[in-house]
Amino acid sequence: TGMVTLDPGFVNTASCSSSITYIDGDAGILRYRGYPIEQLAERSNFIEVSYLLIYGELPTQAQVEDFSQKISRHTLLHEDLKRFFDGFPRDAHPMPVLSSAVSALSTFYQDSLNPFDDHQVEMSTIRLLAKLPTIAAYAYKKSVGQPFLYPDNSLGLVENFLRMTFGFPAEPYDLDPDLVRALDLLFILHADHEQNCSTSTVRLVGSSEANLFASISAGINALFGPLHGGANSAVLEMLEKIRQEGGDVEAFVRKVKNKEDGVRLMGFGHRVYKNYDPRAAIIKKTADEILGKLGGDDQLLDIAKKLEETALADDYFVERKLYPNVDFYTGLIYRAMGFPTRMFTVLFALGRLPGWIAHWREMMKDPATKIGRPRQLYVGPASRDFVAIDER
Ligand code: CMC
Repeated sequence: TGMVTLDPGFVNTASCSSSITYIDGDAGILRYRGYPIEQLAERSNFIEVSYLLIYGELPTQAQVEDFSQKISRHTLLHEDLKRFFDGFPRDAHPMPVLSSAVSALSTFYQDSLNPFDDHQVEMSTIRLLAKLPTIAAYAYKKSVGQPFLYPDNSLGLVENFLRMTFGFPAEPYDLDPDLVRALDLLFILHADHEQNCSTSTVRLVGSSEANLFASISAGINALFGPLHGGANSAVLEMLEKIRQEGGDVEAFVRKVKNKEDGVRLMGFGHRVYKNYDPRAAIIKKTADEILGKLGGDDQLLDIAKKLEETALADDYFVERKLYPNVDFYTGLIYRAMGFPTRMFTVLFALGRLPGWIAHWREMMKDPATKIGRPRQLYVGPASRDFVAIDER
């Protein structure tokens, strides 16, 4: 109680204390557990970063091997869960398929739902890390009408995901190490971003003591929105549209500035970064290299670069401190990897999973945690008397 302050979008309100991720939006700094994102991107890998986020320290060799092995042992989906995919329409968007299947994990693993039992939390953590790539690959296979592949536990997490996504049961799948490394890097860059919309959703749902699967499922749904995880697909659609209309970048930027039909420059701007998003800087640096190797769409990359250049030189964007965010270049890379636009946000979810888990676990251990229950400023009618239906 006390004075209620109005803060739409929680622009100035901290919902918790956290020791997972540090962002300085003015300086363009991002660190996981104190380690600069640039160093992790260059020297670490996604499994190690997942461990770091969830357990707080970089793993030793023995710890990371144990962690990877545990994950490998849980990659299979229950055959009944596999049948779940049959029920969706062929053209179902993979994001709601992903969140539904994750929500359904609560029905299959009733032995790991207690948020205060350390062993159960550990089990649900491993199950999620292991099964989300399988679920994601099946959501893709379903959408293209191809047979599902069982996971191959001799492969690492990223390798396995790529094979289950692009492989066929009838022939061996040749893993391209450049593709593996590029996807691993993108997962590292997406792994956490403190109290963003989906992570705050995971925390809010979890604050009611809902189980980890239920909380993560809610986070996936929050990520689905075009202003959040959906932005990476929206960027590519925007670039395509500009190309179709003759590649006139200046005309498009004018449209954005005039706010015609509410058009925004997708992949630009961020609630916290008022400087170049450090993740976008890393991707931009590697985009040429990765696209060169994977054979990306040079025309779209050129449009993207020109768009960035034009926007960064324009007062509208300068005054509002709008810079490219993580999503500006990722779509181009995902596409060069062979993913359809609809899978882009699923890839974001795969990358963000360890961050969501880390936040949920941190919250459950924090004695200061209370059920999330914001207040409001009521602006509706004052008290009035009921009117009978024939008198309205
Ligand atoms: N294009 C054009 N104008 C913009 C943009 C944009 N992308 N972003 C913000 N603005 C303008 C906005 O119109 C407003 O101007 P004015 O004061 O004249 O009305 C001003 O900048 C402040 O914007 P805001 O909407 O109050 O800022 P916010 O902090 O609420 O929104 C955002 C942050 C990321 C939702 C927004 O920048 C946006 O919609 N960007 C495009 C979508 C996008 O790329 N999202 C991905 C974000 S990064 C990854 C993730 O979180 O998933």
